[in-house]
Amino acid sequence: MIATADLPQVLVIDDEMGPRESLRMLLKPAYTVHTADSVEKGLELLTQKKPDAIVIDIRMPGTTGIEGLRKIRQIDPHLSVIMLTGFGALDTAKEALRLGANDYISKPFDAREMREVISRNVERTRIHRTTENAAGEIKELNHRLLEELAQKERLASLGQASAEFVHDIGNPLTIVWGYVQLLAKKLEDSEKNGESPKPPGSNKELEIIEQNVRLCRDLLTMWQSYGSGEAAPHRLISISEIVREVVRSVEGMARPVTLSCDVTGDPCQLMGEAVQVTRALQNVMINAIQASTENHGTVTVGCIRKDFYVDVRVVDTGHGIAPDKIAKIFDPYFTTKQGKSGTGLGLYITKKVIEDHNGSIKVESTPEVGTTFTIRLPLANN
Ligand SMILES: Nc1ncnc2c1ncn2[C@@H]1O[C@H](COP(=O)(O)OP(=O)(O)OP(=O)(O)O)[C@@H](O)[C@H]1O
Ligand SMILES: [Mg+2]
Repeated sequence: MIATADLPQVLVIDDEMGPRESLRMLLKPAYTVHTADSVEKGLELLTQKKPDAIVIDIRMPGTTGIEGLRKIRQIDPHLSVIMLTGFGALDTAKEALRLGANDYISKPFDAREMREVISRNVERTRIHRTTENAAGEIKELNHRLLEELAQKERLASLGQASAEFVHDIGNPLTIVWGYVQLLAKKLEDSEKNGESPKPPGSNKELEIIEQNVRLCRDLLTMWQSYGSGEAAPHRLISISEIVREVVRSVEGMARPVTLSCDVTGDPCQLMGEAVQVTRALQNVMINAIQASTENHGTVTVGCIRKDFYVDVRVVDTGHGIAPDKIAKIFDPYFTTKQGKSGTGLGLYITKKVIEDHNGSIKVESTPEVGTTFTIRLPLANN
């Protein structure tokens, strides 16, 4: 047994009690029937009850059925409206259909035909409403998914950036660690030899420690401002100076590799970010040292000024790169140092930084002979 509340609802608008009540009796078992004796009362019931179909008499005193149809359409454009027409008034029925009625029934009506017409029109309204709801739900779902996607994208790029920054904080910290050890040994030796507690040269090492701690701090500041949309301002920086500083700072971790450098006296200035260029050069130099450690090789850093650009070359006599690997070395997470703390982000970051400075990075390598990285950066206009 279906509960009354679940039955489809039909609204009957007719000024004559006879047809109104006979419709109610006829439809009652299968529908919840509401009745009104005027268009005005019918419209009130329409907004209150939200019926699934309306049966409305065309000819009524006051507001006519045709006028009523127009008003119904304004309230609910998709609700099925069935016109009740007088016997033989086919022209009026046609006119109503042209104006947007969905069906018509001629008086006096046949009970079976009436039920059929009501049933198919109730069905039409319901299908329409279901489709409309589904469309609304799809739109809502789509909106939610787009929002979720945007959030995931933000998180993914933040995750990627975090991994890069964490990676680069490792380099200066390794350098600091190397120098702290060196310093500790020097102090120990000088104490053993009965020298003064501050041996000559220890100032330089302390300076490098300080520089690299500062780099850690700058990298962290960069991480904190990441995602704010504000790019760090580009300033006039000297590539020769940065190359000298990076060489000086990796010296401590170079042994047993012989590290040498030849840097032009020209400042080689360009507009850029010193922190970024520092991290890029550190990555290339540390890779060269790591590749040359096993065979106690050499790493030579050159900084040569050309007319409009500067070339920074890092040449090593290390193990080289296999031809089938060379195309992959700039890919994120490509590493041959598994188990040796390599993340494979170093060269990926470096390439990005160099390209952000409108430069290029090239590699040439022969296995068992060595590798040369050339970083070319355009200089600022004089
Ligand atoms: N100078 C080099 N000589 C030989 N192979 C190199 C040299 N530089 C880079 N490679 C190769 O390129 C790979 C990728 O280098 P990249 O700096 O991106 O990552 P990584 O050094 O492996 O890891 P991480 O930089 O995180 O410590 C290295 O694993 C190594 O195989
Ligand atoms: Mg590396």
